[in-house]
Amino acid sequence: MCGISGAVGLNNISELLFEGIKNLEYRGYDSCGVALMKNNRILVKKDIGGVEEFYRKHNVIQLKSKIGIAHTRWATHGKVTQENTHPFISSDGNFAVVHNGIISNYRPLRDKLKKEGFNFRSGTDTEVLAHLLEKFYKCSRNVEKAFIKTLSVIEGTFALAFISSYLPEQIFCAKRESPLMLGIGDEIKFVGSDFNAFIDHTKNAVILDDGEYAILSRDAYVVKSILSEEEVTKPITKIEWDSETSKKGGYPHYMLKEIYEQPQTISNALDLEPSGLDGVVDMFSKARNSYFLGVGTTYYVAKYAKYIFSQLSQEFFPSISSDEFQALANVDKHSLVFCASQSGETFDTLSALKHAKSKGARIAAVVNVMGSSIARLVDKVIIQGSGPEICVISTKAALSQMVILTLLAMKLALKKKVITRKTYNQHLQALRELPEIIQGVLNERSGFIHRLASKYSASRNWLYLGRGVYYPIALEAALKMKEVAYVHAEGMPGGFLKHGTLAMIDDDVFSIVFVPPPEDKVLYESTLHSIEEIRARSGFVLGIHFTPQGKNQDLYSEELILPKVPPLVAPLVQLVIGQLFAYFTAISLKRNIDKPRFLAKSVTVA
Ligand code: G6P
Repeated sequence: MCGISGAVGLNNISELLFEGIKNLEYRGYDSCGVALMKNNRILVKKDIGGVEEFYRKHNVIQLKSKIGIAHTRWATHGKVTQENTHPFISSDGNFAVVHNGIISNYRPLRDKLKKEGFNFRSGTDTEVLAHLLEKFYKCSRNVEKAFIKTLSVIEGTFALAFISSYLPEQIFCAKRESPLMLGIGDEIKFVGSDFNAFIDHTKNAVILDDGEYAILSRDAYVVKSILSEEEVTKPITKIEWDSETSKKGGYPHYMLKEIYEQPQTISNALDLEPSGLDGVVDMFSKARNSYFLGVGTTYYVAKYAKYIFSQLSQEFFPSISSDEFQALANVDKHSLVFCASQSGETFDTLSALKHAKSKGARIAAVVNVMGSSIARLVDKVIIQGSGPEICVISTKAALSQMVILTLLAMKLALKKKVITRKTYNQHLQALRELPEIIQGVLNERSGFIHRLASKYSASRNWLYLGRGVYYPIALEAALKMKEVAYVHAEGMPGGFLKHGTLAMIDDDVFSIVFVPPPEDKVLYESTLHSIEEIRARSGFVLGIHFTPQGKNQDLYSEELILPKVPPLVAPLVQLVIGQLFAYFTAISLKRNIDKPRFLAKSVTVA
């Protein structure tokens, strides 16, 4: 979604604002802009394109100022044009606003304001905010009062910040259902959509709650309730992330860096405080019905959980895409709704959880971002400790969530006595071996995958096939291909192929098959049947498998042989191959790897 960054300090903040929105670019990157206070007048610069390009083109760093707000956009209302880029200024030029979210009643507000003579320059919902501030200021001659009045007439969701030439040393901001937080430094204060806006400068954050607004100046800040206008005492949250982890560190792209960080993030997941996991397992064991939720990648994480829980704990838990939850699920106080979310801010998942909570259900989550809306909403949260994930395409966060969910399934199975302590320990040992296995695969197979991806990069249609727990892996690997390479890739259960899709097999349709280890006999053999079905129609099959060289040699058109690994972790190892295959295909196709077109990492609108 859009990124907001603002700073007020003792010295020039232009460069800090640049770093701030640069670090938030993964939230949106259609266009960007900045409003700076110069000699008590507001100066706005904005343009389409990425942050670096914008700053260079308009020489923004040279515009010195001690207070400003900046924005990087992911368009929802209004096309990607310079006019529709934030910040927006009021007709009289005394207010400049940036906003994330959707002002749902902006049309009637705009029509009324137009009749009153306000001059609109964009097609966005946000612009009404600037004009409303001007209008209400004229009545009260008080910026704070004008702000409260503006907030009282707008509907929808927002995180917003503005500066005003009437109070040229203060930043005003507020939030409802879109994330916003303050960074508290000595003689400098920040506002940002998330920690990345200021992590290089302070690790002290104040997380705003819905219905709160804040006023920041160089030396002070105050948080108040929009409703009562009374001051709210807020705790300081210490950011545990290291700002260095947010840097590319020698890798050409964040995506590759984050894929390579997976051995570490899996180790972090396995080292999580056991009591936190046990508390969630307890919730599962007490609930009469439980659901797994997520959207996009995290829906596939939820789907993986469905398989691993029914396999290990011998209990079926449905997985539902968060956006479909209300249409499908019937929850009450005996239900548990467990979601996975990297950002902890995704609107669809947050709405589903709020709905479940309103029905009395217990809610829990695995989340990567501490202090995020979901982390604070749920009854129990597991903070997965994967560190910042900057690339829009999720890799390390998703894999770590899968590891954590495997652990939860094992713990539930042990609690229910459907597995013995010995089996539990064997599974745990398999998980403990996973970081080293993945490290080996990254070291030894990346070159081969790169060559394979280059060779087939012109292929425009891929079927990704897997059976059982390999099906969500196929779905997630296919999503990587779609997101980063813009290549059509369809994930499908192997057994489903013969019921229709087989008709498509020809020279232009390529298949990737995630083959389980032979020890997983039933799944392995049924997967081979799917491959035979394609090969019998002269279709192309890339087999990703664990069978020793030479065995089933003629089965595949191309093969990628993996070392023997414990069957429990085999699907997770294969997902890494899927990630790399998508990455290298995108490299061959010269795609915008970390910021694919039309996407945003954290989708905080409906
Ligand atoms: C967006 C992103 C996806 C992500 C999904 C869920 O659609 O583009 O990459 O998987 O949101 O995000 P979450 O932060 O809730 O895991």
